[in-house]
Amino acid sequence: MKDKKVFLKNFGCQMNARDSEVVKGLLLAEGYKLVDDAKAADIILFNTCSVRQHAEDRVWSGIGNIKDQGPKKPIIGIIGCMAQNYKKEIFKRAPAVDIVCGPSNIDNLALYLEEAIRSKEQILGADEKTRRDDIYHTGFYEDKVHAYVVISEGCDNFCSYCVVPYVRGRLRHRDHAKILKEIKGAVSQGVADITLLGQNVSSYADGSVDFTRLLKMASEIPGLKSLSFLTSHPKNTKQELFKIMAQTPVIKKQLHLPIQSGSDKVLKAMNRGYTVKKYIEMVDQYRGIVYNGKLSTDIIVGFPKETEKDFEKTFSLVREVKFDAAYIFKYSSRPNTKAAGYEDDVLPEIKQRRHAELLKLQKEISRSKTY
Ligand code: 5AD
Ligand code: SF4
Repeated sequence: MKDKKVFLKNFGCQMNARDSEVVKGLLLAEGYKLVDDAKAADIILFNTCSVRQHAEDRVWSGIGNIKDQGPKKPIIGIIGCMAQNYKKEIFKRAPAVDIVCGPSNIDNLALYLEEAIRSKEQILGADEKTRRDDIYHTGFYEDKVHAYVVISEGCDNFCSYCVVPYVRGRLRHRDHAKILKEIKGAVSQGVADITLLGQNVSSYADGSVDFTRLLKMASEIPGLKSLSFLTSHPKNTKQELFKIMAQTPVIKKQLHLPIQSGSDKVLKAMNRGYTVKKYIEMVDQYRGIVYNGKLSTDIIVGFPKETEKDFEKTFSLVREVKFDAAYIFKYSSRPNTKAAGYEDDVLPEIKQRRHAELLKLQKEISRSKTY
């Protein structure tokens, strides 16, 4: 296996970016070499995303684009959320694929590679399990100053549109001592800007250590220069978090708090667990406590049965709250989710218009904030 050249392309969110880095660290430790050019690789890996249809389409076309590399076809591995979403169906749709490895199985990827190379058979690893914690401690970081540190895997929120609980499994928290050890390791290498990662960081719990406690403990690590976190959920983000942000210089004054919709009817159908009023109160609290705190959000337009009135409510909310940044998405029906059972009844051209209108508004807001 040694010296084999690996090309890894990442798709999707920060969690996936960290998983790709973890995979690279593991493979480097096994003696593989990383290359930037897929054509030069013996092994091509795609770390994939299933959050929207568009993300998946990009991967399918990426697989299709792997041109014949002469007599030696590269080993092709599909890892991440699509691997879990489609499991062995991937082999049917893309027979050139050798390995399908779900997010929970990346700790076994080196074994799968050895097996695929040796046996020339297709290998599937897509069970729901907890990864070995040692995979987080290889010391490999892509960036010399910043690192992501996973605090919990999976998600239990079950927003009705979201595939994450089905591809990354139920919520599991990492042991707080191991998280702190990982941060200390990064800081000792000079990687002193850290972002804690979880689908809902406010839900973190390891015995008596909740998220605010973990944040406080992490903030006290000597040499740490900056600490941030992603993503907070409006249903259980607490005022105490804002106080700790305000009191602790090393914590970045930045909150990513996805609203998803400005209509209570849509929020209910999305199973988000809060109202627009509660969200706005939370934002007022945050801005009152954290001086000059930055605020960003995610919004979905065109959720099933979203009327023009519902959309107008989202539009007014964006105008009222004035986010520093808003990531706006068109609703995409995802397999297994509750919303997949609802008719995707907002026409593509209407989704497109709502998306464009919100983007334009947010652009104006962002511009007015920079001057
Ligand atoms: N369709 C469109 N956008 C989605 N998101 C999650 N699932 C979907 C979906 N099915 C968006 C949400 C989430 C962000 C990461 O992606 O806004 O916060
Ligand atoms: Fe990340 Fe969700 Fe995409 Fe998976 S499906 S890579 S968790 S955004």
